[in-house]
Amino acid sequence: MNVFIVGGGAREHTIAWKLSLSADVKNLYVAPGNAGTARIAENIPIEAGDIEGLLKSISEHDIQLVVVGPEIPLSKGLVDRLQEKGMAVFGPSKAAAQIEASKAFSKDFMARHKIPAAKSQTFTLYEDAKKHIDAASFPLVLKADGLSQGKGVIIAGTSDEAESALESIMVKKAFGSAGDAVIIEEFLSGRELSAFAFTDSRFTSPLVTACDYKRIYDGNIGPNTGGMGSYSPPEFYTPALGGEISATIMQPVIKYLNEENRPYKGVLYGGLMLTGHGPKVLEFNARFGDPETQVILPRLENDLLDVMLAISGNRLEQLQLKWSAKSCVGVVMASGGYPGSYQTGYTVTGLDDVDQDILVFHAGTKLNGQGEVVTSGGRVLTVVATGSSIEEARMKVYSNIGRISFKDCYYRKDIALLREI
Ligand code: AMP
Ligand code: GLY
Repeated sequence: MNVFIVGGGAREHTIAWKLSLSADVKNLYVAPGNAGTARIAENIPIEAGDIEGLLKSISEHDIQLVVVGPEIPLSKGLVDRLQEKGMAVFGPSKAAAQIEASKAFSKDFMARHKIPAAKSQTFTLYEDAKKHIDAASFPLVLKADGLSQGKGVIIAGTSDEAESALESIMVKKAFGSAGDAVIIEEFLSGRELSAFAFTDSRFTSPLVTACDYKRIYDGNIGPNTGGMGSYSPPEFYTPALGGEISATIMQPVIKYLNEENRPYKGVLYGGLMLTGHGPKVLEFNARFGDPETQVILPRLENDLLDVMLAISGNRLEQLQLKWSAKSCVGVVMASGGYPGSYQTGYTVTGLDDVDQDILVFHAGTKLNGQGEVVTSGGRVLTVVATGSSIEEARMKVYSNIGRISFKDCYYRKDIALLREI
């Protein structure tokens, strides 16, 4: 089969790598891909948001399955357009992807269907939001409504911080039109968990879970990023907890999305807080997480192509997902300055100097005119190891990561070490 993957991050490199292990995959295409996917697939220079360009290229390549990695093409309806043509697709419809693309929709949906979540209010007028802040107690969480690459969430400890966050979202438009509405919600404390359920809309699979480190600096301080590292499975995860999350959150969400005519084929990602009053939703994503995918897919014992075809063909219930009991740890190497501004174009060295069992997934990389790998984004690589314990996997990653370098490279030193997050 020929498979077309949309996206160019480490998540898509991981998906491409896993699919490349399938005996039934003949040609793999990734649009736009990166220097890592170029080693195992054919890159097609079309951006993930260019729906017409993607549709044209897909129709030219005799494709049997399309896998949509990032949120932008999902929110623009790529899946619907492909399904109209009868294509097999892994990814939710535009209407279902609203669960991620609009936090206001998602919050309203959860309230309507009594899905446990942080209490919140949505504001479209700056003045109303400001009044709400003036009367509130702290900490409080402010979120831009739309897509903002994981950066549109600000936890305000004081009213001054909340006011400046509100101004940056709604007045200065730090996240563009994503800030036309703002969500102000209660601060929840507890442990965070990323939970993933595969679904063909009819059947929703048991969970696979990971922990993600969103803050830029060691000790979980500094601004939020797209994610600086991850590990799976979390040691506190139990089948009973998984059962509770499936029954109170993941299964009802897919059922109600269906009832609202929002078909979902793919993976639903719940960003959860495990509070004293049970698991609550912080946000949903309509896709695999990044960097969670880099530590989840190496644990998948099924052929990923089988899983994706079962989903597109409504046969997921007949397939049992199997996850290795091994632990997997991934550490993101970023460009110095990220998540703020940073330089690109630096040569990456040492990629082939890591031990054989280390996986290096590329994100912001490309090949320059001389065929060298150079940096081209904020998050550059995820270095991943598997071990019989989290500790073993962590030690393997950190004993290898220093062999790879590029100018101003930055990574956290405490991924999977600091586990009380
Ligand atoms: P989100 O993009 O909504 O997942 O938020 C990014 C990060 O902000 C989360 O991973 C949490 O660490 C934090 N966060 C979001 N909402 C809340 C909340 N209501 N209470 C506490 N922390 C939150
Ligand atoms: N790991 C956060 C995200 O993928 O949105």
